[in-house]
Amino acid sequence: MKVLLIGSGGREHALAKALRLDPELEELHAAPGNPGIAEYATLHEVDVESTELLVKLAEDLKVDLVVVGPEKPLVNGLADSLRKVGIATFGPSAMAANLEGSKDFAKQVMHDAGVPTARSFTCTTKAEIESALDTFGAPYVVKHDGLAAGKGVVVTNDRQLALDHAYLSPRVVIEEFLDGPEVSLFGISDGTTILAMQPAQDFKRVGDGDAGPNTGGMGAYSPLPWAPSDIVELTLLQVLKPTIAEMKARDTPFVGLLYAGLALTSRGLRVIEFNARFGDPETQVLLPRLLTPLASLLYRAATGNLAGDAPLEWSDDAAVTVVLAAEDYPATPRVGDPITGISTIENADVYQAGTKLQDGVLHSAGGRVLSVTGVGATLTEARLKAYEAIAKISLRGAHYRRDIALAASTPSEIREN
Ligand code: AMP
Ligand code: GLY
Repeated sequence: MKVLLIGSGGREHALAKALRLDPELEELHAAPGNPGIAEYATLHEVDVESTELLVKLAEDLKVDLVVVGPEKPLVNGLADSLRKVGIATFGPSAMAANLEGSKDFAKQVMHDAGVPTARSFTCTTKAEIESALDTFGAPYVVKHDGLAAGKGVVVTNDRQLALDHAYLSPRVVIEEFLDGPEVSLFGISDGTTILAMQPAQDFKRVGDGDAGPNTGGMGAYSPLPWAPSDIVELTLLQVLKPTIAEMKARDTPFVGLLYAGLALTSRGLRVIEFNARFGDPETQVLLPRLLTPLASLLYRAATGNLAGDAPLEWSDDAAVTVVLAAEDYPATPRVGDPITGISTIENADVYQAGTKLQDGVLHSAGGRVLSVTGVGATLTEARLKAYEAIAKISLRGAHYRRDIALAASTPSEIREN
């Protein structure tokens, strides 16, 4: 099988590595990729938003499958354009990607599908905004309707801040505050059938103890020893299956990865958000644990053939990933500094994201520079490996959280199967 992977982040680096492990894979190409992905794939310098050029590339390469990593090309309709010329694509159509692209659309679908989520109002006027804030009270949750690269959501006790954030967007979703731990749980769908992955937890704030501003994600781990043992079944039943059925009934089937961001509240699980693609950095802890060969799996999903599949297979290992972020990330990340030490790492995997080669030397080129994944029999062991490895990497001003998976990897850690 010949595969073209779209994207250039740590998620795509982990996808490239896992795709390579599938014996069915013959050729792997990536656009635009990064220096880490180059180890597994032939790179093509085409931007993820150049839809026409990507379709031409996929045709020229005669690939059997395109796997789309990031959300922007999906919302732009890349998957539609690829399918139009007969290329099997893992990634939803623009209409279906609206589950991520529009918070209001996602709420409507959840409402119609009976999927549990926070009660909400979609507001376009000042009066509606004020009334919604007063209905729910503090803490206020205000979300811009469109794609906002992680900057669209504000959760605050300060009514004025909530108002200020709401006024920045022509359409906002205001919803009730959900208490309880957050879990990321993904499903792989062919539009009709959906297979659940294992749960992971992401760390969104920049600093230890969840201090500081929101980021794209500073680390993740899987499995979750503390989560209810039926969380996968419950999420399939209450969230993933009804959403896939609703999208199909609307004639906009969702083919690709459905990312459910969940809050485990005292009243049961609730969807906080949907994404239409693999999470980053959750993918860097999930794929190292996935035993089901990935390229064939994504091909069956892209071609409507998941119906006969058994549930996905997983190793009993635990995985922890820690993101190395550039100085001043997430505000104004510093770029262009040399990164050293990666080649000295033996017991962990490095997934590159914001990197580029300059005169043959690896340099930083983005806010989240790379992530380091440790895998072990327990979270404690996986964590140790990740932290020992990341300490060997040098990059001026770089920072990372010290508490990824710390609370979950207590001595009494209970293994989940
Ligand atoms: P989102 O982009 O929708 O995932 O929101 C970003 C972050 O804001 C989430 O990961 C949560 O930590 C927080 N958040 C979003 N919606 C809610 C909510 N209804 N209640 C509490 N926290 C929320
Ligand atoms: N880890 C959060 C995201 O991928 O959106």
